[in-house]
Amino acid sequence: MYVCLCKGITDSQIRTAVNNGAESMRAVRDQLGVASQCGKCSSFCREIVRETLENT
Ligand code: FES
Repeated sequence: MYVCLCKGITDSQIRTAVNNGAESMRAVRDQLGVASQCGKCSSFCREIVRETLENT
């Protein structure tokens, strides 16, 4: 499912980035570019990052 339409980033890309060591929203943004344009996706993206960290 697309989370960030501006950058075309899916929830699974975000989860993969977190599982590969991007342990914060900032790290995921730096790596994927998610939430770096309009910012509308940032709270949902943050939630996915937190949820993924909790489940690892
Ligand atoms: Fe992610 Fe716009 S939808 S920056």
